[in-house]
Amino acid sequence: GDAGTPRLTVIGTGYLGATHAICMAVLGYEVLGVDTDPEKVRRLAAGDVPIFEPGLPELLTKALESGRLRFTTSHAEAAEFGDVHFLCVGTPQMPDSDAADLTYLDAAVTALAPHLRRRALVVGKSTVPVGTAQRLTGVIRELAPAGDDVELAWNPEFLREGFAVDDTMRPDRLVFGVASDWADERLRAAFRPVLDNGTPVIRTDLATAELVKVAANSFLATKISYINAMAEVCEAVGADVKDLADSLALDERIGGRFLRPGLGFGGGCLPKDIRAFAHRAEEIGVGQAVSFLRQVDDINRRRRARTVDLVREVLGGSVQGKRIAAWGAAFKPNSDDIRDTPALDVAHTLHRLGGDVRVYDPAALGNARRAFPDLRYGDSAFDVAEDADVVVLLTEWAVFREVEPEALAEVVAHRRVVDGRHALDAARWRAAGWEYRAL
Ligand code: UGA
Repeated sequence: GDAGTPRLTVIGTGYLGATHAICMAVLGYEVLGVDTDPEKVRRLAAGDVPIFEPGLPELLTKALESGRLRFTTSHAEAAEFGDVHFLCVGTPQMPDSDAADLTYLDAAVTALAPHLRRRALVVGKSTVPVGTAQRLTGVIRELAPAGDDVELAWNPEFLREGFAVDDTMRPDRLVFGVASDWADERLRAAFRPVLDNGTPVIRTDLATAELVKVAANSFLATKISYINAMAEVCEAVGADVKDLADSLALDERIGGRFLRPGLGFGGGCLPKDIRAFAHRAEEIGVGQAVSFLRQVDDINRRRRARTVDLVREVLGGSVQGKRIAAWGAAFKPNSDDIRDTPALDVAHTLHRLGGDVRVYDPAALGNARRAFPDLRYGDSAFDVAEDADVVVLLTEWAVFREVEPEALAEVVAHRRVVDGRHALDAARWRAAGWEYRAL
């Protein structure tokens, strides 16, 4: 009903949707998760989380046991059940342009809207080009039997993989892009327990809410590329970017987070979001304002090429026939996600150049094998390092940081390590007789 606690649907049960649905049910809401993929629905309903996310499997079990969480493939059922419908489908990069692919979002809206026969709030959470919410408002108005009684709001999601549960339960802020007081009240009702935690809310318009998300990710990407640009300058003069970053970090206005130099950013969000933002800005005639994002992207891509160059240099000019241990495949530690991952990009380039590359990752091996079947894989950090001419750290998992250089020295052919993430203790590795190199 209109008063009281709304019943929620979550449309799209990928990373974002599965987390949102499970957490909301745990917080006490009646939740229906919707996905067009019957296999995903079957697995979730059976208590099986299809993604790697610490804490989420336990919460899914808890939510299912409470009886408050169910899953379906039917949008008609969702429309019948829900008062607030969260759109959580992916908006990946188009295969042949920088634009965001809105196919899934459009499909979700056109599947749901024709069934909306009473007052309801549809809430977009997906990352979208600014202006999308306004366009979808028109689509819903046209298709929904309830017409103007259905409103659209935008509530961008800021969760990080690996911290998804915590970021959902205790976010830094909630942004409510709304067109009416009613929508604002409904959103507050749909986030009551999170608001009771003291989470600040910014109420704003639809376009601003859409922009907050891409502005935040662009800032984070820019910060990483900034320190990596400084790393390029440091390299040219033999300066130390680690000390430089540590010094900058102590200025509270700058801060140390997202200031770790290395192989740069990857994943399903930062790279595609800055490209889609630059593309959208050009479309609406303000391309110049964010043209620096093209450079942020270029700096980031250069890190991968420069890491390959450094490995080549350490190996005396060629990787041909050399045994290379690649530590890491995921785009960051504590994740099995290999979307746009710098690690596999570098490993695969070394392989193409004739290197005898063997990859190990604690969580992402299955995904890596499927995406790069021509690479070779091993069972542990030590396994892939056997007889290696060089060890290359590409994702800073704790298991790699904890390796004892003295012990590893026993299995490799040559004590050479390239630290793509500035994650190892350089002094300790050098003391154990290793040639330690980092960008
Ligand atoms: C990112 C944002 O941090 C989230 O706030 C946002 O909600 C999410 O995208 C999204 O749009 O859905 P995520 O992609 O999970 O989250 O990963 P991050 O922790 O942001 O890391 C991104 C990349 O930057 C990783 O490849 C990481 O290795 C790299 N990174 C991070 C650095 O190279 N240096 C740093 O100092 C920090």
